[in-house]
This record gives sequence, structure tokens and C-alpha cells, in this order.
Amino acid sequence: MGTCKSPEPDASGLGDPNGSDLDADRCAVLLDLDLRSRQLQPTHRTLPAVRTAAPTGQGPSFALPDGSDVPIDAAAALANRTSGSCFGSLGGFPAPDVDLVSIAAPLRHALYPHPSDLVTPGERPPVNCYFAAPAVSGLPDAFYRWCPDEGLLHTQAVGGAYKRLDECYQLTFGIPMWTFSPRHQSANLMFYLAVDRLRAERVFGDRAYRVLHQEAGIVAQRLCTLAAASGLAARIHNGYPAAAVGAVLGLPAGVEPVIQILVGRSRPSRRYQMEVTP
Ligand SMILES: Cc1cc2nc3c(=O)[nH]c(=O)nc-3n(C[C@H](O)[C@H](O)[C@H](O)COP(=O)(O)O)c2cc1C
Repeated sequence: MGTCKSPEPDASGLGDPNGSDLDADRCAVLLDLDLRSRQLQPTHRTLPAVRTAAPTGQGPSFALPDGSDVPIDAAAALANRTSGSCFGSLGGFPAPDVDLVSIAAPLRHALYPHPSDLVTPGERPPVNCYFAAPAVSGLPDAFYRWCPDEGLLHTQAVGGAYKRLDECYQLTFGIPMWTFSPRHQSANLMFYLAVDRLRAERVFGDRAYRVLHQEAGIVAQRLCTLAAASGLAARIHNGYPAAAVGAVLGLPAGVEPVIQILVGRSRPSRRYQMEVTP
């Protein structure tokens, strides 16, 4: 039986790989994965910022309404959080009571820097926030990118969000959106969190997939919690035609949406809601 020794001395200074006495016969796959994840190269440890899709120029940009600095009671927000077993009636239409003000707080805080050893300290997470807004009062029915540095929503694609999303479902799955995912019809908006898979893989190899989902997951958790604090239901809903949606958003090659979140007003339903006290 051999041991998992590196044939070359490690120049990274991050530890001595020859120090391992793992059984090579039993961990060949693991070694291969480790090799491709390039974890021992110190210059390859931080993720680059996500390349953004250029606005189409087909629609205006919108400033986010000013927010108050009233602190959010996270415990109360989490206790009241719901993933919206239905927004409106299932398969019905969204209620016209979600406006730009109600989504301003989730957006404003979505991409704040959080402590992470995957980006340069103080930088925003390696995640971009797009959304489809078929039924947000005060916003034309279109797709948008949230730019936190400018405080602006840029129009990414016009033509009616439901209609264009439906085309994505038809193209990818061969069935209409309402058949595949009835909940979409009653949601007011859908967030799409996009990551730069291509550049992340150059840095982290195969491990990029997990790393990017962790970073996008933190942003998703924040969006869902802040949506709850704004009285909205938010539901991660990852059965969707990601490549086709990415194309509608105009994402550069290698930049992909990894999380979809449906948002709307939660309605009473027959679903049992467990009582949670903060
Ligand atoms: C990564 C991920 C993907 C998900 N995809 C779907 C989905 O495609 N459809 C769906 O109905 N729920 C999906 N869910 C589950 C809902 O978002 C939600 O977490 C679940 O209904 C539990 O909600 P609750 O915590 O409010 O009870 C997904 C959850 C996660 C974390």
C-alpha cells in the first residue's frame, strides 16, 4: 500500500502535502479532485468579481427609493418567514400589492460584503442579482439587474417577463411555464442570482461549483430574510431553465444563474403553518 505523497515539493507555503499518510489506493478519486481544485496555490484563492451583462439599452434605469435605517428585528423576521406555499391562489394571478418600496430593502442589502475568505476583504460577494418583475407596481414589466454601487436597477430585457420566461420553459422543457411550475403565475417577481462559473473554475477547479453555491446561498438567505421583514414571502425554486433565462438576461458566456427565488404576498392556504416564536 502506498501513501498519498506529492511527487513535487510544495512551493505554496500552505502546508506540507508530503505530511499526509492517507492510503493512496483508497483515495485516488479524492486525490484527483484535490489536484483539480488547486487548493495549494496561494495566488488562486480569491474569486474575481462577476462579469456583468451589459444593459440592453431598450429600457430605462430606475433609482431605488431611499430606505430608512430602522434596524430589522431578525428574530421576528425569521419567525414570520414563509416560503409562500402560494402567492395569491396557486396558479392564479399575483396581487397588485408588491411595489418597488417593498423590494427596496431586500435589494439594498442583498450584496453587502460579508466576511469571506473567497474575496478580497471588504469586497462584495461574487454574486450578481438580477430579477424578472412581471408584477411590481411602479416598475415596467421587464428583467432588471441591481447595481448596488450606482444604486440603480438597469433594464436587462423587455418584452414581458411572464411571456419571455414561458418561452424559456417551452424551449427547454417543451411545456408551458404554468404546467411546469404553477407557482410562477402568482409570484410578483423572481430573483436570479448569477455567478461567474467560468472564471471561478479557473481559480478553484471543480470545487468552484460548491464554493459559488455557498456564496449565492448566503445572498439568497439574506434576500429571503429581508423579504420576510418587508412582509413578503420568498421561495427558492430551483427547477427552472437556467441556461435559457441566462440568455434572456444577456449574461456573458460562463456567467450563469444558480438560484431562482420567487417572491410575492403569501395568502392563507390549507398548508399547516408551524407556529414559531422569536
Ligand atoms: C436549493 C433549493 C432549491 C429548491 N427548489 C425548490 C423547487 O424547485 N420547488 C419548490 O417548490 N421548492 C424548492 N425548494 C424548497 C423551498 O424553497 C422551501 O425551502 C421549502 O418549501 C421549505 O419551506 P419552509 O422553510 O418555508 O417550510 C428549494 C429549496 C432550496 C434550498
